[in-house]
Amino acid sequence: MINGESIINHPIRWAMIGGGKDSFIGYIHRSSALRDCSFNLSAGVFTRDIKKCRDFGVSIGVDPQRCYPDYKTMFAEESKRSDGIEAITIATPNNTHYEISKAALEAGLHVICEKPLCFKTEEAEELAALTREKKLIYGVTYGYSGFQMIQQARKMVASGDLGKIRLVNMQFAYGSFNTGSAEASNNFVKWRMDPAVSGPSFIIADVGTHTLFLSETIVPQLEIEKLLCVKQSFVETRQLEDNAYVLLQYKGGAAGMLWVSAVNSGSGHGQKIRIVGEKASIEWWDEHPNQLRYEIEGEPQRILDRGSKYLYPEAVEEDRIAGGHPEGLFESWSNLYRRYAVAIDAAARKDYEFLKNYWYPDVNAGARGIQFVNTCVKSADAGSIWVDY
Ligand SMILES: NC(=O)c1ccc[n+]([C@@H]2O[C@H](COP(=O)([O-])OP(=O)(O)OC[C@H]3O[C@@H](n4cnc5c(N)ncnc54)[C@H](O)[C@@H]3O)[C@@H](O)[C@H]2O)c1
Repeated sequence: MINGESIINHPIRWAMIGGGKDSFIGYIHRSSALRDCSFNLSAGVFTRDIKKCRDFGVSIGVDPQRCYPDYKTMFAEESKRSDGIEAITIATPNNTHYEISKAALEAGLHVICEKPLCFKTEEAEELAALTREKKLIYGVTYGYSGFQMIQQARKMVASGDLGKIRLVNMQFAYGSFNTGSAEASNNFVKWRMDPAVSGPSFIIADVGTHTLFLSETIVPQLEIEKLLCVKQSFVETRQLEDNAYVLLQYKGGAAGMLWVSAVNSGSGHGQKIRIVGEKASIEWWDEHPNQLRYEIEGEPQRILDRGSKYLYPEAVEEDRIAGGHPEGLFESWSNLYRRYAVAIDAAARKDYEFLKNYWYPDVNAGARGIQFVNTCVKSADAGSIWVDY
């Protein structure tokens, strides 16, 4: 059980780039990072307007002298201080991630970055290589992977509870952008539909990579051999897809499917993953994240609940309150930030042996997401043909 005590040498001096007052995702980063005494928010470039950046920084307790107009100034100024920043989070729109990540790694800073890391597969490989070369930590905020029932699912598959895995059925299909008025009234939706800012894909990159990472977490042994993608823009003014289906063929014979959508009218969030084995299946739905459905062929369905004694130890060690009380997305993210902190602490102590086996969504997971997005786009643009992975 986690109760918030510090478990590392010292709180990591941390800065944010993006995630300002007007942002969609900034608050959950701060709330999660600051929860377990592992990070101190020491500096930031919360937005591009320096006045707004300072006003906001001061309102959340950051020294106004350490609120900067851009990331280059921040890296330069902070490197002169004996108490300068050690790690950054990048929560800006997609087209800035690669440039900021590269500069941060070159400046010797640990990075926690929003997905997608970049647009091109070669850029992702470059960031992965730079992270290795500099012996730094690079975490990616695949925020759903911190849920305890995902760790339970991972352990159940590893323990053979399902038998050999045959099928992976994934969806992340919500309805809230089902008309063009979504981008007309919200800036954070508008840039997502612009290829220059969003990248070569909207919905596959924005949400599909989350569910893909859940599948990689639960069934790490499955490797994609080839895929076929068909994508649509149901809102005609959109340049990027707002719906897509992807068929997956894994090495060794397993098969998979992913449905991603922003136009699934009436659906709240709609992220689900079902893993089907020879003996049994499990299913997780992010709208009920404290539960995992467990269906053994020929037996009544079971609902496994977070915080229960019958779960694997890996599924209860990150509980923050006893079972029966709901935990949610903020706790899942907090679990990930705690893992990034432990990894950064280990890297600072040069404990590379520990890091070899320590799980967290890392730069390789981020790079696999880029490869997935680009292969989907390649397949769809070629007329929805099977493409080798
Ligand atoms: N992991 C998740 O579950 C999740 C959820 C939502 C968004 N995201 C990702 O987070 C990122 C941000 O998304 P959002 O929805 O919060 O966007 P947003 O448009 O709501 O917020 C972006 C923030 O970055 C600031 N900003 C923009 N350019 C900047 C720059 N050059 N320097 C400093 N600040 C800058 C803006 O002022 C704003 O505060 C995107 O990459 C998105 O894909 C991830």
